Amino acid sequence: MSNTYFVTGALGCIGAWVVKHLVDRGDTPVVFDVDGDPRRIRDILDDDAFARVQFVTGDITDGAAVERAVRDAAPEAVVHLAGLQVPFCKADPALGARVNVLGTIHCFEAALKANVGRIVYASSAAVFGPPEPGEAAPDEQAACEPTTHYGVYKRANEGTAKIYWQDQGLPSVGLRPLTVYGVGRDQGMTSGPTTAMKAVATGQPYAIAFSGVTDFNYVADTAAAFVRCADQAPRSGDGAKVYNLHGDAVPVNDIVATIEALRPAATGKIAVNGPVLAIPTQLDGSAIHRDFPGLPDTSLRTGVGETLRRFEELHAAGRLDTRDLPDA
Ligand SMILES: NC(=O)c1ccc[n+]([C@@H]2O[C@H](COP(=O)([O-])OP(=O)(O)OC[C@H]3O[C@@H](n4cnc5c(N)ncnc54)[C@H](O)[C@@H]3O)[C@@H](O)[C@H]2O)c1
Repeated sequence: MSNTYFVTGALGCIGAWVVKHLVDRGDTPVVFDVDGDPRRIRDILDDDAFARVQFVTGDITDGAAVERAVRDAAPEAVVHLAGLQVPFCKADPALGARVNVLGTIHCFEAALKANVGRIVYASSAAVFGPPEPGEAAPDEQAACEPTTHYGVYKRANEGTAKIYWQDQGLPSVGLRPLTVYGVGRDQGMTSGPTTAMKAVATGQPYAIAFSGVTDFNYVADTAAAFVRCADQAPRSGDGAKVYNLHGDAVPVNDIVATIEALRPAATGKIAVNGPVLAIPTQLDGSAIHRDFPGLPDTSLRTGVGETLRRFEELHAAGRLDTRDLPDA
């Protein structure tokens, strides 16, 4: 039997992979996004799979439109990924709040009114501030001191989720990724490592604009975590759960070394120039693995290898979107 999932922001990077995960196992994703261009989904789905995706163009800031679309879809669960990332929230904080905070409230309202069983939404590692020297990776109990508008909005959403559980009994799971990488990651503060892989596929040089250690999460794993949380109550019971995601925490220079090991011709072409990020270098992600055993944990070498290969295929087919490359 095919189940329906309502996925907001599914024309984005993580959303495209959530769509792929659902279609691959025979389910029906209903994509709700303000953008009309499904290029990130097309980059990872063949024509048959693409034909099984349903699309609704709509703005998450329009509560009535979200309600209508969720009611019409009558989904098993809502996966809420629509949002503006750090640089966009910094450039226009009011728009950032409308999309990220109000948009999240609209999703919860719509889920409630349509009797949807669970909502899974993207929070972020940006709810935390920068690490103190020697500080351990934060777990879900660690204090949140966001240093960006974006982080403040994501933290607000976790509070919203808590109140919908407390007042209405609507179960939810918020996931906090740090640096997601893979095909489709072409915007946001931590997209540089993926853009570097794209540059390598085209033979161009590239400079990643941040340095230091960060927690790399392969996008297929990120998507799998969202879908699993949409499907199943956590082992420790329903509620308004929030989980950190942890992948491979390595210096950005190590990603460059991994790319160079996989594609020796790229040696010396990728630079790392820029400040360290004002968020933790890694998260303690053990809780989600305790509550949802068996989640995938793709190694960096495999994730980078798969990403390079797909970018090269798209480039060879004349289909690579190079707008995030500097001289595009
Ligand atoms: N990529 C990461 O490393 C990362 C890390 C932590 C959290 N997150 C969060 O995960 C979610 C998905 O991230 P992503 O990397 O796929 O982002 P993305 O920028 O690739 O995609 C976001 C999608 O949201 C859509 N959107 C924006 N405004 C909208 C609106 N008003 N109405 C409807 N749709 C709208 C965009 O069109 C886009 O398709 C976001 O909420 C992001 O903040 C991402």
